[in-house]
Order: sequence, then C-alpha cells, then structure tokens
Amino acid sequence: MTKTFKALYVSQEEGGFKKEIKELSIGDLPGNDVLIKVSYSSLNYKDALSASGNKGVTRKFPHVPGIDAAGIVVKSDSSDFKEGDLVLVTGFDLGMNTWGGFGQYISVPVSWVVALPAGLSLRESMYFGTAGLTAGLSVEKIISAGITPDQGAIIVSGATGGVGSMATAIMSKLGFDVAAISGKNEDGFLTSTLGAKQILNRDTFIEKYNSKHLSYSDFAAGIDNVGGPTLSGILKSVKQYGIVTCCGNVSSAELNTSIFPFILRGVTLTGIDSAQAPMPLRKKVWQSLATQWKPLHLDQMIQEIGLDELSEKLEALLHGKARGRYVLKHE
Ligand SMILES: NC(=O)c1ccc[n+]([C@@H]2O[C@H](COP(=O)([O-])OP(=O)(O)OC[C@H]3O[C@@H](n4cnc5c(N)ncnc54)[C@H](OP(=O)(O)O)[C@@H]3O)[C@@H](O)[C@H]2O)c1
Repeated sequence: MTKTFKALYVSQEEGGFKKEIKELSIGDLPGNDVLIKVSYSSLNYKDALSASGNKGVTRKFPHVPGIDAAGIVVKSDSSDFKEGDLVLVTGFDLGMNTWGGFGQYISVPVSWVVALPAGLSLRESMYFGTAGLTAGLSVEKIISAGITPDQGAIIVSGATGGVGSMATAIMSKLGFDVAAISGKNEDGFLTSTLGAKQILNRDTFIEKYNSKHLSYSDFAAGIDNVGGPTLSGILKSVKQYGIVTCCGNVSSAELNTSIFPFILRGVTLTGIDSAQAPMPLRKKVWQSLATQWKPLHLDQMIQEIGLDELSEKLEALLHGKARGRYVLKHE
C-alpha cells in the first residue's frame, strides 16, 4: 500500500488561509477503525466554509476538508467491514475536524461507515453526497407527514444549489409539482433537468410572501435551504397542516416570523440535521436514493472535477454561484 497521498491542504497563515495540493503521509491520519481509499468526494457549502477558514466548521488547522467520501476499504479493525468493501461516509466529524474526502485516504470510526447501497456506483453516491442525503431526509419528513402530490405543489428554496437541486429533482421524480425559488436566471436547468414546474424569483418571492400575514396558501409543503426572509415567506405560503423543513442558512441564520402560521394553519416547521442522522434512518434514505427516489437526469446535475479545480469551485460555492453538484474524482 502506498504510504503517501494527495490532498487539498488548508493551513492558517498570517493574514489568512492558504489552500494547496500537498503530498501527505498515511501516518498523518488518525488511527481510526477503518482506512478507506477515497475514489470520489463531493462539494458542499460546509466544505467551502471549512476551506476558507471558518472556525464554526473547522477549529483546527492545518486541515483537509471534504465532508463526503466514497471509496474502497483498505484496512479494517472492525468485523463489520473488510478489505475491498465499497463504502461511503458523509457527515459526522468528517471534513470538519477529522481530515476528509478532499484527500485520497481517510481514517474513520466504523460507526460512520455505510455500505454502498445496491443500485449506486461509488461515483453516483457522491452525486448525492451530503446534499442528497439532506434532501432525502427533507423528502422523508414530508412524505411521512402524509403529504401527497394531489394536495398541492412543494416550494423549494436555493433550488439550483446542492441540496435544493436534489430536493427539486427527487420531489419531481415522485410526481410532485415543484415550485423552485432561485436567484439565478433559468436556462433550462430547473425545468428540463430537475423537473420543476414553476420558477419563482428569489427577491419577488421574499417581497410577496412577507408582505402580509397569511394572505396566500399556495403550497402543500416547503423545503428551505437558505433561512432568513425566504424561510419566513415559505412559512406564510403553505396551506393548512403543511410542513416546512429547514436545513441551511446561506441567506441568514435569523428567522423573523409570527406564531400565526402555527396556530391558524397548524403548520409544522421541522429541522434537518444530516451530519448526525442516526444510522437506521441514514441507511433507509440511502436505499431510497438508490432506487425509487433516484432523479431521472442525475448525470446532468453534476460536474466532475479534479483536485486542481477544487479551489475555484469552492469559491463559487462560497459566493452562491454554484449550480447543481460538483463531484471530485481522485486519481
Ligand atoms: N442541516 C444539514 O444537515 C445540512 C446539510 C447540507 C447543507 N446544509 C446547509 O444547507 C445550505 C445549502 O447547502 P448547499 O450545499 O446546497 O449549498 P449551495 O450548493 O451553495 O446552494 C445554496 C443555494 O442557495 C441560493 N442562495 C445563495 N445565496 C443566497 C442568498 N443570499 N439568499 C437566498 N438564497 C441564496 C443559491 O441558489 P439559487 O441561486 O438557485 O437561489 C445557492 O446555489 C447551506 O447553508 C448548508 O450549510 C445543511
């Protein structure tokens, strides 16, 4: 087995953080239960924060980001996995303060490892990554609440982003009409690739649905990925007994609302945390993603990149300019 590997290495320097591709030693990794040779990773907003030195995500530098990884087990101290098994890891502490999938090897506790579900290749599993798992957990909440396509459309925010694009595509696949909120100009990605039925301009949505209390009841449920005034607008836009999921704060971590959506319409606001999602739920959602929830045009939703393109794409993510999912292929 090789003793060194390449990684995107982020170090703190006077006046900022430096990203470079560096040759590291397997011995630099923590001595956890399972050593995995990473074939693919994917890019998430959290990775962009970590790679830019955000201490809310990563406290210790130097660091190798990458909250997602899919690859082959090369060494296992656990009887649950053996050499040659195909596995994926998303969330927990991976890429936060444990070196992550932007390196060609990771060493992780066995409790973080998921066997690759039948129906997905390693590459496809990273099409989803944390974004897909998070979208899947949101879909699971809505379906479990008894919402069906005949009850009305689903509103999704940050719709061209990682979680938003996955949520839009999965809900469309399941026969729901999706109304997609986006700040970008539509060029066919939202409608043709993801299957959205309606596009709502982000600023127009915020203005319309925050203007008055409960003047509209247009959607059966909502999947919010951005927080702030978009989330408060979504809460006022859903019908009686609607459910709204909340997972992200790209716009803002603040939420200004009133109690009226809750006491006059029985609306439920529910949080999504994919990083610590319990293993049985995690496996159930991965199984659904691999089968009946798998979007129709999955391969058109992603761009495959190499280590040398990572820095540029992380910058795009950080500034809300990314579209769909970026999958990192290791050599
Ligand atoms: N809780 C969890 O388990 C979990 C898991 C994954 C991600 N997240 C969070 O979910 C959020 C989305 O993650 P992601 O990986 O999908 O990020 P992403 O790929 O960067 O997508 C975010 C999207 O939000 C929209 N957006 C950008 N700036 C905005 C603004 N100022 N106001 C409103 N919308 C804006 C953009 O889409 P449009 O241009 O189409 O509007 C952008 O593409 C992040 O906050 C992330 O940390 C949470």
